[in-house]
Formats: sequence, structure tokens, C-alpha cells
Amino acid sequence: MRRNKKDLPILQDLLIVDAGAEGMAVGRHDMLVVFVPFAVPGDIVDVKLTKKKKTYAEGKIIKINKLSPLRTQPPCSHFGLCGGCRWQNMRYDIQLAFKQKLVNDSLQRLGGFDFPEPKPIIGSKDIFHYRNKVEFTFSNRKWLIHPADHVEEKEMNGLGFHLPGMFDRILDVDTCYLFESPANEMRNRLRDFCQEQDFTFYNPRTHLGFLRNFIIRLASTGDLMLIMIFGYDSPDDIDKTMQFLKQTFPQISSLQYVINTKKNDTITDLECIVYSGLPYITEKMNDLVFRVGPLSFFQTNSAQALILYQTAFDMARLVGDELVYDLYTGTGTIANFIAHKAAHVIGIEYVEAAVADAKINSEINGIRNTSFYAGDMAKILTTEFILENGRPDVVITDPPRAGMHASVVSQIEEARPGKIVYISCNPATQARDIALLEQTYKVTAVQPVDMFPHTQHVENIVLLELK
Ligand SMILES: C[S@@+](CC[C@H](N)C(=O)[O-])C[C@H]1O[C@@H](n2cnc3c(N)ncnc32)[C@H](O)[C@@H]1O
Repeated sequence: MRRNKKDLPILQDLLIVDAGAEGMAVGRHDMLVVFVPFAVPGDIVDVKLTKKKKTYAEGKIIKINKLSPLRTQPPCSHFGLCGGCRWQNMRYDIQLAFKQKLVNDSLQRLGGFDFPEPKPIIGSKDIFHYRNKVEFTFSNRKWLIHPADHVEEKEMNGLGFHLPGMFDRILDVDTCYLFESPANEMRNRLRDFCQEQDFTFYNPRTHLGFLRNFIIRLASTGDLMLIMIFGYDSPDDIDKTMQFLKQTFPQISSLQYVINTKKNDTITDLECIVYSGLPYITEKMNDLVFRVGPLSFFQTNSAQALILYQTAFDMARLVGDELVYDLYTGTGTIANFIAHKAAHVIGIEYVEAAVADAKINSEINGIRNTSFYAGDMAKILTTEFILENGRPDVVITDPPRAGMHASVVSQIEEARPGKIVYISCNPATQARDIALLEQTYKVTAVQPVDMFPHTQHVENIVLLELK
């Protein structure tokens, strides 16, 4: 018989002992592992369970009996509701210590291979306002912080972030501390304008509504891109909105929009229409410049991205005569970053627009020893491709959170590069992939890097060398 949530017990005086995956804090009660959001190791709390299985449970804090000395005051008024910064109430040095532990535990538990002790994690210089990209969602199903008996339809319109675990609920955000200042003002003024115009906010259940999302990207050069995503084509209203943005925020250097009539929010398969300005923004890194289009991936913490790339470059110990494969190259940032110390670099990436940017990025930086290919990695990186393009001496791979497809891992193993530099934003899938290479490669260095302060996310670079 399934137990009703209400029947689940309250655990009193639960000592929080860990912080881990999904940003949850962890306590132990007899044999039960209890996951508690927004608690900090060292806290002693009363927890109302919301889910209970044989070996683990989830719960919410209902009373804090003792505050951990590892706590700090979170500046954000949305902390505790918004899922973005689960660790904002934990001191930054402690966040780093838990990320270090997360990397170590993932490699140990999920990989099961030998590896040297990870080097101390490289922390982020900026721990607030470090993101260069943010996506907000319009919704007519705003989360009501103080539910009332009667709410006007218009009051249910919100513009902000999805609440964790609720695809259809939006937390209307006032100030977010992760982005540079124009993002907050832009969001708030755009929301007010759209409310005045009586535009409809999207309903994620019925898939009706005019306003869906908007994305802001700010480059270190000061270039600013804004992309509006509309739920259907309504030329007059689109023009009104875009005019408002253009006039209110003259600092926007690339103003674009997309019409998305699909049920999902992905826009990588849709056309971005330039309303005014350039179709891209320009990022700068050392003495290189990078054009970044609206559909292209670029690391969201620009300052740390430089450190990440420099660390990966140092690990590769290139001497200048190597053929390097840069897998999951995005806009070719790593390929172009390392090209000066390689004979040739081949970048492979799924998003065609990113590959087009990657080629332009080589061109505008005067780099002539790179080639880029667009397509799904598992389909492009074949034995024939390697025969045609040459066996790589070094592979740098930077896949998305899901890690690499098993066939990509075996293809790399078959190519037998002397070194593999594996950059990952998910140590769990990284450990899984490395375990597949265990027969042929040994792990010789592990370097975690923090790109996302206040979140549980950690980037990790592993160097593998042929046994
Ligand atoms: C973590 S990003 C790394 C980008 C790049 N290395 C950088 O630092 O800017 C992962 C990249 O993999 C691409 N990608 C995801 N799945 C892919 C696939 N199956 N085949 C090829 N590329 C893929 C994404 O579009 C994205 O650009």
C-alpha cells in the first residue's frame, strides 16, 4: 500500500553530514539516507519526510535546531525556492571542499579504476555575477509565494526560472545574483511592458501563449545579445516588443527573435531572425577573439573558461607536431586556443551553426591549421574518418552532461592517441566513460575546476595516457 505524504514521519534532530549530488544535503537516520535540500553539513534539523523508500528518503526542513558553522547568509531573496543556487547558504571554501569530494567519490565509486589524488580544485575569482548567459521563461502559471483565495488571471503571469521538479511552474524573479546587472533590469522592464500590452504568457500545459522565453548573453567585450522567443507569429506584436527592447536598451548589440510553435523549448533547430545589430557577439580570450552566434555553446563563466582551457592545454603537453582531435568543439574555442602549439586540430560538433562560427573563428584569428566537421559524434567519428583525417596523437574531449556515447569511447580507444584530455561537467558520466578505457589507458592527473559557484556543479579535467 502506498503511503500518503501526510503519513510520513518527522525525523527530529537529524544531523546533516554531507552535501552531494543534485545539491542535496545528506543526513543518516538508522539505515536510512535522508536527502534534504537547503541544509548545510553540521546543521541539526527536524525534517518532515516527503518520500520514503527502503534505503533512502527525502524531506523538508521544518525546524533548524542548530545552525552549522559552515553556513553563511545567502544574499538572494529567492534562495530556498529557486533551484539555481542550492549552496548559496554554504561558505564558498566549504562549497569547494564538497566539490573536491564529489569528484573524488564519483571517480572512486562509479569508475572503480586507479587514479592519482585529484589536485586542489581551482576556485572561481568571481563568486557572484559570473554567468554570461541566462534564459528566462514566461509563464501564466507563476508560483504564488502567498497563495490567495482569488487571483486575477494577469497576476498569474510570471517571468523567471522553472521551479525544481515542476516543469509548469515559474518563480517570478526580481534579482538574480549570478548575472551581470543588465539582465535583472531587462527582465523586470520587459515583463512590465508585456503586462501593459496584455500579451499572453505561455502556458506549458496547454502550449498556448505569445511569450515563451528570452535569453541574454553578455560577452567580456561588452557585446550584448538578446533573443526573444515567441510562441506564434504575430508580426505587429513582435515588432512592438522588439522595438521596445531596441529603444529601451540601446546597448544591445545583437537583437534577435525566434518563433517556436513546437511543444519543447529547444531552439537549436529553429531560425534566429536578426531584428537589429549583428548576428553574433564577440568574446575575447587572451589575444584571440571568438564570434558566438545565438545557437552556439560558449562556456557560461568566461573568466573560469580561460583557466579551464589553459589547464587542459597544459595537461596535453603539446610540442607542436601533433594531430589533435577536439571532440564536442562548440564554436571551436579549445581547437583555436591550442592550435598555435599543434600541427593540426580537427574539431567535431553537432550544431552546424557552431561549426560555421568555429571556422570563422579560425579565420578571424589567422589560424590556418584547423578543420571542423558538423554532425553527431557517433556518426562522424568512424574508422573511415580516422583513416581519412589521420590518427590523433592527442584527443581533447568535452562532451555534454550525458557524457560520450559508448561507440565514441571505443572509437577513441581504437585510434589509440597517446593522451586523452577529458573535460567534463558531470564527473559521474566521466567516471563511467573512463572505466571503459581502463584496459588501454591510465589516469595520470585529475584537476577539478569550479565554474559555477553556489551550485553543486563541478567541472573536472582528467588526463589519460596510454599504458
Ligand atoms: C560542454 S559543450 C563543450 C563545447 C566546447 N568544448 C567549449 O568549451 O566551448 C558540449 C558541446 O557538445 C555538443 N554536442 C552535444 N551532443 C553532441 C553529439 N552527439 N555530437 C556532437 N556534438 C555534440 C554541444 O552542442 C556542445 O557544443
